[in-house]
Amino acid sequence: MSLLAPTELSTAAEKLIRGRRATRAFRPDAVPEDTMRAIFTLAGAAPSNSNAQPWRVEVVSGAAREHLADALRAAHAANRTSVDFPYSDDMYAPVHQARRAAFGAGLYGALGIAPDDQAARAAYNEESLRFYGAPHAAFLFVTGNGGPRLASDVGAYLQTLLLAMTAYGVASCPQGLLSFYADTVRDELGIAEGRLLVGVSFGYADTTAPVNRVTAGRAALEEVTTFHD
Ligand SMILES: Cc1cc2nc3c(=O)[nH]c(=O)nc-3n(C[C@H](O)[C@H](O)[C@H](O)COP(=O)(O)O)c2cc1C
Repeated sequence: MSLLAPTELSTAAEKLIRGRRATRAFRPDAVPEDTMRAIFTLAGAAPSNSNAQPWRVEVVSGAAREHLADALRAAHAANRTSVDFPYSDDMYAPVHQARRAAFGAGLYGALGIAPDDQAARAAYNEESLRFYGAPHAAFLFVTGNGGPRLASDVGAYLQTLLLAMTAYGVASCPQGLLSFYADTVRDELGIAEGRLLVGVSFGYADTTAPVNRVTAGRAALEEVTTFHD
């Protein structure tokens, strides 16, 4: 039994970190501008190597969001994918694949999609290019040479952003899928600099949607952590 006494901050941190979930159904209500500014200001407190802060963030709402969603679906229909960070299923170790399969079974099960129904899965993915109905999406670009060390800084920014959103009652879903259309995002937003790491759909959660009740488990502490004395 642990004798560790919780503090005000540890209790808040447990609530904040565990309270963040990938949300895949949103209400259409916009996040007020002052809340938005508070969230993105807080996210900027993320750590980075030598404090270089190699991120560039583009947030779309309203008409810009509509245009981008249409352009993403058009790119998808035309098979016009473009990635700044190469992807391959081979990058995953068998243990990763097992975790991914368990997660997929939970997600698609909640959606009523059978494990072997590839067409239904593809349709769901395509629909997700509409940001799961979220009124806003943030696109995280890695600036500089866009190499792996700089990308890991933007990963730290990503988690800080997600937690800042959670703190302000805003739900989110990081979507790697959005980064498969990097040229489309750049063209639509008129951006020349940076490599697109990930998009984040965000807004207020539709708490009635069964998909938002999906919980993803985690590996046990000992499976991923060794304490050396
Ligand atoms: C970099 C990154 C990319 C992701 N890409 C997607 C995506 O394309 N579509 C999606 O529905 N969820 C995506 N997710 C959400 C993960 O599936 C989710 O974080 C994971 O299953 C753990 O669940 P939780 O966030 O609810 O704790 C992504 C998460 C991260 C961090």
